[in-house]
Amino acid sequence: MPNTLRPLAFADDFIHAELVEDAVDLAVADAIVVNLSPRPMVTGDDYPAIVPAWKSTWLRGGTLRQAERAAMIRVRQRVNLGGCGLRGWDWLGHRIRSFPRDTPLYISAFDHAGTVTTDPRVFTNERGRPEAEQVFDLRLNLWWSPGDTDCFIHNEHPFLEVHTQIHGTGRMQKFRARDAATLYEDVPMAPGASHDPFCRVSGRNAWSYPWHRYYADTDAVWLAVELHPRG
Ligand SMILES: [Fe+2]
Repeated sequence: MPNTLRPLAFADDFIHAELVEDAVDLAVADAIVVNLSPRPMVTGDDYPAIVPAWKSTWLRGGTLRQAERAAMIRVRQRVNLGGCGLRGWDWLGHRIRSFPRDTPLYISAFDHAGTVTTDPRVFTNERGRPEAEQVFDLRLNLWWSPGDTDCFIHNEHPFLEVHTQIHGTGRMQKFRARDAATLYEDVPMAPGASHDPFCRVSGRNAWSYPWHRYYADTDAVWLAVELHPRG
């Protein structure tokens, strides 16, 4: 069935969030559309254009011409958006004991968005064509932080991750050590932008990440896209 739609787990009165599968010529009034497929997504009518795997765009009265699976997300209520921690989102410090006690980083509910078959080295851009595909569980969540938040330098993930900016602006940053003074790359994040994967495949279901963090320049909402190896 084309254009199969369902709300994402973090959809609420403040944030419109939908998953579409097998999108065909779907009109999108206003949403950041994230390609959640290893295959290209196609937008446009008179001028069809490609959105590569795991990349995104902002459609405003546009057409999602073809997508295997995509998220469509838009902040629709800005007033009191930052109260997300009072309506079900969790402060990350509740989940990670070592997380700084004074950092206002909040996580939404997870959405389990199905499975993806891909070669992790294609995901990380270490290889152009798939040679060793495997199955991953796709998990999505939103993050929220107020402006000028250091969302903590880290380098350990048992999964492949990328992020899409939904609201406000920030930066995905890389460091040589767990020390903000060792910054060596700033990837600007504005609504509709997705950064390239930071990690390298280091073994079977093993990924090596540089020290990295998200830095919120303004009040910001961004989407985490995680591929967790099956089994
Ligand atoms: Fe990370």
